[in-house]
Amino acid sequence: MRNNVVWHHHPVDQSVRAGQKDQRPVVIWFTGLSASGKSTLAGALEWILTAQGYHTYLLDGDNVRHGLCKDLGFSDTDRTENIRRVGEVARLMADAGLIVMAAFISPFRADRQIVREILPPGQFIEVFMDASLEVCKERDPKGLYIKAERGEIKQFTGIDSPYEVPLEPEVHVDADRLSVPEGINLLLDYLHEQEILRGGYQRVEESIVA
Ligand code: ADX
Repeated sequence: MRNNVVWHHHPVDQSVRAGQKDQRPVVIWFTGLSASGKSTLAGALEWILTAQGYHTYLLDGDNVRHGLCKDLGFSDTDRTENIRRVGEVARLMADAGLIVMAAFISPFRADRQIVREILPPGQFIEVFMDASLEVCKERDPKGLYIKAERGEIKQFTGIDSPYEVPLEPEVHVDADRLSVPEGINLLLDYLHEQEILRGGYQRVEESIVA
């Protein structure tokens, strides 16, 4: 069946869509333990980029699991399928010319590598939210670590399900120590170096995000 499906090249492609938005599309992929700050930093970055006139979209693990991936749980195979689907959606959104932020635990290196490989070269930016398990447990905003330690949630990342740290992430965030504005500035500096931001980008002040 699949052999009878032919790829169509349409006249409007990624460069046309991105050119209309005057931006370079990328997927900024946040990976790390639950409560490492992925969603917070991705959301804050999106807010800053949008305020500076960029066209963006944030794909967030907790939200996507209410719709596109609501049939999936937390077994290794379901997590792999979760990241495969989200990777394909991120690819489509980047093809639409957007700057995409994706915030998923995405615990397996091989799954993250597949997303890197389905994107055009240079359009996957892996951001490792490097927070220690101790700090994540202390934060525990949703009370999930407590439940996992009591055995009320199974296959919880860092407790009884593995997390494979990125070996060569484009951006390494010391998430135990950095404030949100410091994290944003680290990302803005990287995006600037890679010429993804337009000239004259603005770093943020420490006071801008509560
Ligand atoms: S992933 O492993 O497939 O990438 P994803 O980022 O979509 O995970 O979802 C993680 C979120 O689901 C966590 O932030 C947490 O709120 C919730 N969650 C519920 N059960 C688990 C579990 N067993 N392991 C990890 N996160 C869980």
